[in-house]
Amino acid sequence: MARLIAAGHGSYHTEKRRDFMMRRPFSIMFELLLALGGFLTLCSVNIPGVAQTAPASGPLRPLKSIYQIYYSGVRATNRGAHKAYGGLGSLYPKDRSLMEQSSKAAFITGAAYGIGRATAHCFVREGYAVTLADIDEGRGKALEAELRKHGAGALFVHTDVRGEAGVRDSIERAVTEWGRLDALVNNAGIEVYRRADEFTSEDWSAMVDTDLRGPFLCTKYAFPALRERKGSVTNIASVQGLACEPNIAVYAAAKAGLLALTRGTALDFAPYGVRVNAVCPGAIQTGMMESYLAMQSDPTATISGMAKSIPLGRVGEPEDIARVVLFLASDAAAYITGATIVVDGGLLARLAL
Ligand SMILES: NC(=O)c1ccc[n+]([C@@H]2O[C@H](COP(=O)([O-])OP(=O)(O)OC[C@H]3O[C@@H](n4cnc5c(N)ncnc54)[C@H](O)[C@@H]3O)[C@@H](O)[C@H]2O)c1
Repeated sequence: MARLIAAGHGSYHTEKRRDFMMRRPFSIMFELLLALGGFLTLCSVNIPGVAQTAPASGPLRPLKSIYQIYYSGVRATNRGAHKAYGGLGSLYPKDRSLMEQSSKAAFITGAAYGIGRATAHCFVREGYAVTLADIDEGRGKALEAELRKHGAGALFVHTDVRGEAGVRDSIERAVTEWGRLDALVNNAGIEVYRRADEFTSEDWSAMVDTDLRGPFLCTKYAFPALRERKGSVTNIASVQGLACEPNIAVYAAAKAGLLALTRGTALDFAPYGVRVNAVCPGAIQTGMMESYLAMQSDPTATISGMAKSIPLGRVGEPEDIARVVLFLASDAAAYITGATIVVDGGLLARLAL
């Protein structure tokens, strides 16, 4: 924690910590008293009947009432916090302490825009400190500033996932900054559309290096820190890695490779408690989609045609993917590894005959 404060994320954290340290002894004493009350109450009844069969009267009855009121209050607070965050069950109230706020750390590649950006927001809402790794310095720094303004732990590191030394240094920097690494999200990706024979070997290198070698490098250098926390890796692949449209063979090959890399790495890391999964987005409104639409003669018609071909009737939002990534990194997914989760509004479920 000292390291986090030394990292200098402003007086917000220092203040929160002071506040937390001052309130904590009282809160601990209060909770101990209540726990004692609960314990005595439960001891007074015939286990396994516990609370339901507690005596309606007797000297311990008032303690039981306090105990029950307290815990129904805790449950209500948790439900409220869950609603406020709109996420996957955060049990923390909005003014989290520094300790809670920086309790986990995630490294997200391609975090400056699109799915990566939405993922960073989602993780921050769930209490993670995030490292935003991207080649887009302008958007990356702007996101870092925006997240910090809201009191979140955020660090932008200029990272090109194609470069081994840069990847290693960025991960090292993130681990030094947060003191840990719980989740790696390999999201950075590019696509180029051409007929199979028209791709150049530069196209091949650009896509394979970004979409496949990048996740390999990040995973390789993140593993020692992930192993310490029994963390997770989530690779953002694509439906194109499972079934593909014309003019995208090289991207499809890179993403299919990423799915194979996911399964193989999951097997190798399982003995260390590190889970590795892949998410296959369908058509999602991001920078990648903007570039695709810019190539179309009628972008509005293209997007409404896409929406019609998707069983759920709409193109996906980056948050549709981010929520699944957050789930895969969470303890709720503790028994999921080597899996490919398709998040496409039903696109792949339909046979286009
Ligand atoms: N948008 C879709 O419809 C869709 C569908 C399937 C899969 N995906 C996958 O989702 C992931 C995210 O894409 P998106 O749609 O959010 O695209 P996007 O273009 O909006 O965002 C991609 C981000 O990756 C960064 N990036 C690109 N090359 C990089 C590199 N070498 N090193 C570091 N960062 C780099 C970009 O600067 C950008 O911030 C990609 O892996 C993509 O293949 C997207």
